[in-house]
Amino acid sequence: MLILGIETSCDETAAAVINASDHGIEVVSNVVSSQVKLHAEWGGVVPNLAAREHLKNILPVISSSLQEANIVPEQLDLMAVTSGPGLIPALLIGTTAAKTLAYLWKKPLIGIHHIEAHIYANLISGNSDSKEELKFPVLALVVSGGHTQLILMKEHLRYEIVGQTLDDAVGEAFDKVARILDLGYPGGPIVSKYADSFKTDAESKEWLGMRFPRPMFDSKNFDFSFSGLKTAVLYAVKSNPQILSSETLKKEACFQFQEAVIDTLIHKTLGTVEKYGVKTVMLAGGVSANSELRARLGTAIKNRFPNIGYIIPNISYSGDNAAMIAAAAYYRWNSLEDKEALEESWKTLDADANMSLS
Ligand code: KG4
Ligand code: ZN
Repeated sequence: MLILGIETSCDETAAAVINASDHGIEVVSNVVSSQVKLHAEWGGVVPNLAAREHLKNILPVISSSLQEANIVPEQLDLMAVTSGPGLIPALLIGTTAAKTLAYLWKKPLIGIHHIEAHIYANLISGNSDSKEELKFPVLALVVSGGHTQLILMKEHLRYEIVGQTLDDAVGEAFDKVARILDLGYPGGPIVSKYADSFKTDAESKEWLGMRFPRPMFDSKNFDFSFSGLKTAVLYAVKSNPQILSSETLKKEACFQFQEAVIDTLIHKTLGTVEKYGVKTVMLAGGVSANSELRARLGTAIKNRFPNIGYIIPNISYSGDNAAMIAAAAYYRWNSLEDKEALEESWKTLDADANMSLS
């Protein structure tokens, strides 16, 4: 079936068409219009500016996604839109556009939880293990700008949050560390680039031997805390202001920060796998684009639990996109007994900034 997905929860206006069946989920078109440059000036996403950009871009983006897929709206079997969580002014643009078009085109429409979509991005064809039969329980390590959660799934579309951050999300910590080091916005990709180049640098006499804490490493639960780690980077810079004028020292700070984050994420993930008898681990959310995290988590799992699966999203579907919204909608659609009710959802679907995963 052909599904049109729409995503506007934060700072990407996205629309995509997938062709989904029992044989897999093929992405036919995937259009993402990023507002990164607009928000960079402010050092973070400004909700009302985001909404204005979404409003300007939403129809052209949807229209490009149909054109690139070489289809007309009549051919669609289903529409899907992110209904939450996210920035309310941004979500409203996507849901209003989706509801209006669903009414005009007479198409069923499903509202999708943004984090559920990040998880289902792993099941788009072409991913590492996506062809293998998915073995439950699945554990999703969700690491994005707004969320850091360990989510246990005993079956499709059933979620239990078994661990989460008590303060900053991982992506947020990356962004704040980038700001402390004056590296620009969004921080994740830049910090990770600096961290990677630290390793390839030759031994430097300039290095300070920085080391940052692994917060809540030894706590008995699977919760995280990243705000202290970010503060530790801030204190390192305050005590060693030369960091700000040295590319070498910035690389060292980024590397040591990233190591502390990855060590903690791996430790908690492995503990959860053991406790819950997990058979497949998935990585999800914008920070899943981090190459060191992708590689090190995979190695750690293989070493300690050689028989469990490890799935990571294709880089194209790690950050916010609409193919993942359509992919999640396919599983939701299959699970519904009363599909006809969706014909009327243009009347009832609401954006919900604090939507919970259930
Ligand atoms: O999922 P996402 O695109 O948006 C939200 O739903 O929040 O995640 C965005 C977050 C940002 O904080 C960004 O800095 C981070 O993902 N990110 C990364 C990398 N690429 C993006 N963090 C670390 N390493 C990366 N390579
Ligand atoms: Zn996201």
